[in-house]
Amino acid sequence: MKYIIEKGSPNGKKLLLLHGTGGDETSLLEIARFLNEEATLLSFRGTVQESGMNRFFKRNGLNQFDLVSLEEESDRLIKAITSISEEEAIPLEDWIIVGYSNGANIAAHILLERKITIKHALLFHPMSLGVDTQRFSLSNKALWLSVGKYDPIVSEEASDQLVQQLKSRQAEVTVTTTNSGHQITMDEINQAKQWLNEH
Ligand code: MLT
Repeated sequence: MKYIIEKGSPNGKKLLLLHGTGGDETSLLEIARFLNEEATLLSFRGTVQESGMNRFFKRNGLNQFDLVSLEEESDRLIKAITSISEEEAIPLEDWIIVGYSNGANIAAHILLERKITIKHALLFHPMSLGVDTQRFSLSNKALWLSVGKYDPIVSEEASDQLVQQLKSRQAEVTVTTTNSGHQITMDEINQAKQWLNEH
């Protein structure tokens, strides 16, 4: 997978960035640097193409997810994260995922469906993908997520469903609701930063 890594200071957070549809590995760098100035950043580009836009898994129309692609791309991403972490001598559990939209969706899917030691995630505007096959506890995970009241892509049901899936498996979930749509607002970035400082 295409990625960039930017080394921060040893005490900085380790942020793993997953962009939204049509983004790339540079899309979230500025937000991540604002979240933690000293952070080490590992940022991926989704391998799936949709009319020239990068994504982390295929879909067959808005919110019509290709679940085969979702599983294959989850495996690919986990493999890449694991091998880069080994190369860079960064323990997997040190990473904090920062995902937006499609990137947040694959991150939530991986946390729900795979036994991975990553414990923390900041998910901007995620939704449930409707996959719920596992029952292992997520009690060692803490997630922050944002929901836009007027989001035309993520319905209230789809974000509620994700929150319920996570909570029913004992994850610690913090939800920030914004008075806007699917875009990331400055207000939620500030709230994400505060959460990050506390975790
Ligand atoms: C998705 O396809 O993952 C969601 O609809 C979010 C998006 O990328 O628009």
